[in-house]
Amino acid sequence: MYRNILLGGEPGSGKSVAQGNIVSHAALSTDVDLILIDGKLVELLPYAPVAKQFVGNDIRKAIQVLKAVQTEMDERYLHLARTGRNKITQNDGYRATLLAVDELAYFLASTGTKEQQEEFFVLLRDIVARGRAIGIIVVAATQRPSADIVKTSLRDQFSYRLAFRCSTDSSSDIILGTGWVSEGHSAKDIPPEELGQGLLLAEGGRPRRIKTAYLVRDDIDRLVRRAVHLRRAAA
Ligand SMILES: Nc1ncnc2c1ncn2[C@@H]1O[C@H](COP(=O)(O)OP(=O)(O)OP(=O)(O)O)[C@@H](O)[C@H]1O
Ligand SMILES: [Mg+2]
Repeated sequence: MYRNILLGGEPGSGKSVAQGNIVSHAALSTDVDLILIDGKLVELLPYAPVAKQFVGNDIRKAIQVLKAVQTEMDERYLHLARTGRNKITQNDGYRATLLAVDELAYFLASTGTKEQQEEFFVLLRDIVARGRAIGIIVVAATQRPSADIVKTSLRDQFSYRLAFRCSTDSSSDIILGTGWVSEGHSAKDIPPEELGQGLLLAEGGRPRRIKTAYLVRDDIDRLVRRAVHLRRAAA
């Protein structure tokens, strides 16, 4: 659970489906709290019944929720400091949290004031950087893999990166990290009809071509009903 993942790629390339794969897994894991922030509102909405927090296209509320996560993070670090360790385990009594953000670009560039966008960015970067050791995991997706949205200081905090089809080599490098195109790994080479295929960079490795599972809305609704049931039983 100590891994964050960034998903990027051109519109309609499979980012939200991929994010859904991960959120679905977490939904069925009764020891994970889901915090979902979705600039498009409708992509993560099917998971709202099992989410601890759900935020749609509302940057003010998104900032509030991120601030609360940051406070929780500080508390957990204090706990680690008191117990002389640097990583949380299951025995610490904290629940794992999956923070999923779909349409990162919406919050970083398209809505609210410049100050709000900056605040959102700083909070998210802090959570991505400090969250993983204490059980707060981020999965974030962005449609506009440009340098102003996916700043290096944010991108580099993600140890897993998944690039779906990109329209340019430079977009691919922005998601995976500079230099992979020159070594022959460009998400521009993914054929447009191969929806759901992407290049996955997993920690120190090399990017590898993968394909996500495709859950249609009926699958997701069924899965969420089951997750609600499992979570009630586990409570
Ligand atoms: N693994 C897959 N297998 C088959 N089809 C897929 C797969 N992943 C995605 N698709 C198809 O591609 C469509 C677009 O996928 P998705 O909504 O994930 O794109 P996106 O990258 O999030 O787009 P946007 O940038 O507009 O939000 C899906 O509705 C589905 O039809
Ligand atoms: Mg999407």
